[in-house]
Amino acid sequence: MPPTAAKGVADENLRFSSWKFAQGREFLTNKMLPIGQQEEWRMKTCGFHPGNSRKGREFLTNKMPPPAAKGEVMTSRITGTGSCLAGTCVTNDWLSGIMDTSDEWIRTRTGIRERHLVKEETTTDMAYEAAVQALEQASVAAEDLELIVVGTVTADHVTPSAACELQARLGADRAMAFDINAACSGFLFAIQTADAFLQAGRFKNALVIGAESLSRIMDWSDRSTCVLFGDGAGAAVLQPAETGILGYDQGCDGKKGSALLCVNRKNHNPLTDEEQIVDYVHMDGQEVYRFAVTTVPASIQKALADAGVKAEDVKYFVLHQANLRIIQSVAKRLHVPEEKFPIGLDHCGNMSAASVPVLLDEINRKGMLEKGDKIVLSGFGGGLSWGSIVMEW
Ligand code: COA
Repeated sequence: MPPTAAKGVADENLRFSSWKFAQGREFLTNKMLPIGQQEEWRMKTCGFHPGNSRKGREFLTNKMPPPAAKGEVMTSRITGTGSCLAGTCVTNDWLSGIMDTSDEWIRTRTGIRERHLVKEETTTDMAYEAAVQALEQASVAAEDLELIVVGTVTADHVTPSAACELQARLGADRAMAFDINAACSGFLFAIQTADAFLQAGRFKNALVIGAESLSRIMDWSDRSTCVLFGDGAGAAVLQPAETGILGYDQGCDGKKGSALLCVNRKNHNPLTDEEQIVDYVHMDGQEVYRFAVTTVPASIQKALADAGVKAEDVKYFVLHQANLRIIQSVAKRLHVPEEKFPIGLDHCGNMSAASVPVLLDEINRKGMLEKGDKIVLSGFGGGLSWGSIVMEW
């Protein structure tokens, strides 16, 4: 029999973890082996590769002596969602009054009709509003949060992070908080990171956010980019569960990073005497388009295979909202009807890391999701990066 509480390890740490995970922590903290031998140790003692959730679950369900007790962590699930759009709605027609563009060009090329842009409000303001809604729906108090992960490329400051600012605003004093910069895949990477902490039995209440004020990093004289983006935030509370996240895929291709670039800032360095630069977003639209329509369906297929779920059994595919034509192309390549792809870009534009959680909250609050539904979340963009998750609601 596994020990119920290893000597010297607090009950608090064991409550949501299997004894194997607890042993792992004790081992990793107290008896650190050289890196190369850690993997061997994990496989020998746990049969569990921490980078492969499915193998981990298979082991926990099939091979663990004795069978896992009911209530033990096998995965994590979303228990509450929230969202907030920036306060000012900007239509295509309004944009055509300040630059050489038209509602017709924007709508037919992208599907976007309007977007919301910040004026006074900050990224943290919107993240806070979305977080409060998600916590309320999950019935989780801010002071019980142990982890806050924010996917963003537009935190209000370089430091502190948006997550730390949010932690202070919420009064989530116990929570570890940090940002993830994975552009439009930010929310997916943030969920996968939080899920890894929960699966390890480390935490039981995580808040995951995608929040952006992209209008602050747009070149408003470049009509080919500034018309595409919007500002907002979406949030999800993630908790340990017996079912929830079923499979993953994620990846990056840093060699293609220049296809979607924002240098942001470069100071006047006395060593190199370089000019000070404040830069904005540059995009090779066609390169990004080609990347999206090939990588996203492949990523979704890998996540479905990881989960052991068929595309036809998925109720909704909640994709990053970059462009309607990209979504239609992904649907076609997956042989899935377009009706299974909810659309938010028509009224939000592309909100980078916020696109997926805002759309998820919209369909959740419309009552479109029922317990047991299988859904896919998929994000892609700057990096270049991509991430897909299959989950049971
Ligand atoms: N209004 C009017 N005309 C515009 C315009 C605008 N807002 N932006 C660009 N144009 C013009 C261009 O100047 C060009 O004119 P020209 O032919 O006289 O030179 C013409 O429209 C075609 O430009 P092009 O860039 O070839 O358009 P496109 O068909 O590739 O569509 C995108 C542009 C951005 C809509 C498309 O490439 C795209 O959706 N790419 C994916 C981008 C994306 O989703 N990025 C985010 C990923 S996270």
